[in-house]
Amino acid sequence: MKNPFDILEQNALNFKLTPISFREIFFIAETPCDIYAQVDGLLKVILHKKAEINTQLLKELLQKKMANLFVMQDDRTLLRFAQQENLTNVTRSLSIGDPLEKARLQTNLLTLNMGYLYEDPTDDNVLNLQVQSAKNLATFLFNKPQIHEDLYKEYIRQGHHYIFAQPFLSTLFLLGVMKNSRMYIDKDIELFFLTSYFKDIGMSAIPVEKFNDKDLTDEDKNLLASHPTLSVNILKGRVPLPPNHLKIIENHHIYSTLTNQMNLSSKDDPNNIFGFETMMISVMDTVAAMTTDRPFRKAESLYKSLDLIRLLIGEQYPQEFKLIVFYFKNFFKTL
Ligand SMILES: [Fe+2]
Repeated sequence: MKNPFDILEQNALNFKLTPISFREIFFIAETPCDIYAQVDGLLKVILHKKAEINTQLLKELLQKKMANLFVMQDDRTLLRFAQQENLTNVTRSLSIGDPLEKARLQTNLLTLNMGYLYEDPTDDNVLNLQVQSAKNLATFLFNKPQIHEDLYKEYIRQGHHYIFAQPFLSTLFLLGVMKNSRMYIDKDIELFFLTSYFKDIGMSAIPVEKFNDKDLTDEDKNLLASHPTLSVNILKGRVPLPPNHLKIIENHHIYSTLTNQMNLSSKDDPNNIFGFETMMISVMDTVAAMTTDRPFRKAESLYKSLDLIRLLIGEQYPQEFKLIVFYFKNFFKTL
């Protein structure tokens, strides 16, 4: 620290700046506001408003270890709007250009917006954008199963926090199995995609950093356990999901423990949707979680994941279990 003026200035900056994720400056052509970082222990503007952003610049920042970025609190929304405008544009032009490139961009922007949604799940604009974009992605990906594996690989490589990555990965698996099973019409696909993708939105009640520790406080554990109900409360009346799909969200952890399995209604009852669909969403969630790293544990093998799934559903759903095994063995073979 050079002189008292610096100290005052730095204190004032500390007060006015808010941290942003490094990936919030990906995908935009120019900065919508000044971007700050620590340079030799001092907070300084490293990118002025309207500075061009390209891959080379991003690499340089990473090399100089300037990945911890800040913006003025008042500018935070400018950055969010820029990324959301991106998401809107990519959603509208999803079918134009290279499908894998478009899907990669779309999934990354959706994941960024999921972060914004977690910051304020009551914001209708953010939620509507997320729903509309996810709907388009559902149809797009359903018709392009040939890019699923590559998209999975690319998406994993991005290293999103698992809280934001998990909904997409489990939903991508769900889409693949549904495609394989050939049992669904287009409208169903969209609804199940949304159901699976938004099922964990209730987790936004817990700050993301807390998910880096294995040990949550009892209060956080209770909040976490109630996330299916919180998700329904957040979504009810605000998204185009019929009541039976909200019911699936409410029950999406019902297969997580063997003991709960006995509470399921008969799968033969045509009036409830607890059976196959809830099971599928729950199982895809479990496999996606087990086969990916967490900050506090390494990924499990596919074999181990499927072994657990066999214990959970093998007896009640032998045919479906075979379908799932067939799907995943093919999927991971190419990875
Ligand atoms: Fe969940």
